[in-house]
Formats: sequence, structure tokens, C-alpha cells
Amino acid sequence: MAKIIITIDGPAGSGKSTIASLVAQRLGVTFLDTGAMYRAVTLAAMQQDVNLADEEQLSNVLNQNAFEFVPQKDTIQVHLNDVDVTDSIRTPDVTANSKFIAASPKIREKLVKMQRDFASTRNGIVTEGRDQGTVAFPDADVKIFLTASLEERSRRRQNQPQNQGGGGQIEQIKETINHRDACDKNRSTGPLIPAEDAITLDTTNMNIEQVVETILQIVEEKNQC
Ligand code: C5P
Repeated sequence: MAKIIITIDGPAGSGKSTIASLVAQRLGVTFLDTGAMYRAVTLAAMQQDVNLADEEQLSNVLNQNAFEFVPQKDTIQVHLNDVDVTDSIRTPDVTANSKFIAASPKIREKLVKMQRDFASTRNGIVTEGRDQGTVAFPDADVKIFLTASLEERSRRRQNQPQNQGGGGQIEQIKETINHRDACDKNRSTGPLIPAEDAITLDTTNMNIEQVVETILQIVEEKNQC
């Protein structure tokens, strides 16, 4: 299969980044964390005191700032106007405010285009987010929808390193995750929903290696068709 595209969508804390980066490494292709893009625009808007409810102003943020996304082995380095903001986009404030950027159809359209342009320059990608299988790459070779119980996702989030949004009280994390999922599911453009042809994996009782192996197996089966 030439230039493989694998999409991994799912709710907050379902392990998308970890799994997508490992699958990408195993296949020798590029990992794309599209959440980092929404976070970077959020950070820029916050730094520039933009009214987050004003779509026109948000759209200007994308046009008037330089965003650079540099894929690393297991993360994506983010530069905003040549400043490394890889850690700054993971703060609780940016996480909370990203819902405004995610709800903007104009921003989504531009970011989806950036994601497709990015994919076109690579020899294959494993891309993760909320709308990768439904909107950004409807013709992807393999589409995965990762889920896990709210309890398990909250526990995983809590155990992440602090500079990646980890730590905190479990009840608070549950509430935050629940709220983010509700916003992601209920917006009109690019909502969080499995693509019709996505394979849903409930990873509540699976470890990372099992999830990675399951996805690689699905990819291999697809390759044989
Ligand atoms: O995945 P992550 O938590 O980093 O994403 C941050 C936010 O960006 C999500 O809560 C979601 O609202 C938004 N997002 C999105 N579409 C994507 C990726 C992320 O709406 N493809």
C-alpha cells in the first residue's frame, strides 16, 4: 500500500497520541497530533487577547501568526512565531479554551487543509484527533476510533507527566474530560463521532502494547486485501 493514511479519533484521554505515535514508529511513517494545532491557535489567541467568541478575530489569528508543527518521534514540536510552545499548549487554560477554536467552522476548514497538505508531503501518516476519519481523511486506509471508560481515561490523564497535562484530582479530571467530550460531540462542524467505516477499539482493559499490536494487525489485514 503506497502512502498509507491511518486515522485515530476518539475522546479525550483515550490514548490517541501515545498509540498513534507508536503505530507510526512501527510503520516508519509520520505521526500527526492535530490537537496540537487547535491548542497552538488557542494559545496564540489567548496571548493576543482575542475575543474567543468572535470567529472573525479567531480566523485572523491563524492568518497573522506563523505556526510550525515539527513531528518528533513521539510528540510534535510546536513553534508559534519561532518560539517553541510545545509545553505551553498543554496548560489547563489552553485545554479549557480550545473548545472555542474547535467550534469555529472557519478555523476547522483551514486546519483540515493544513493537515491534508502535511499528509501530502509525507510518505504516510498516522494522524489523531476528533475528525480525522470523518472530515480530514474520509478515504483513509484504516480508521480507528479509540475509546475507554471515563474512569480509565481520567486515570491515564492523571498519570501523564505534568508538562503534558497530567496530575490533579481524579474527580476534577473526570469533570473536565466529560465537559470537553460533550463540547466535541455537540458541535455542528467536525464533531467527535466515529466514521461509519471506523473500527472501534475499547481499550479500557488493554495495555498500550496490546492496542498497538491490534492496530498493526488491522493494517496488515488491510494490506492483504
Ligand atoms: O487531542 P487534544 O486534547 O490535544 O485536543 C485539544 C482540543 O482540540 C480537543 O478538546 C478538541 O476540542 C480539539 N480538536 C478538534 N479536532 C481535532 C483535534 C482536536 O476539535 N482533530
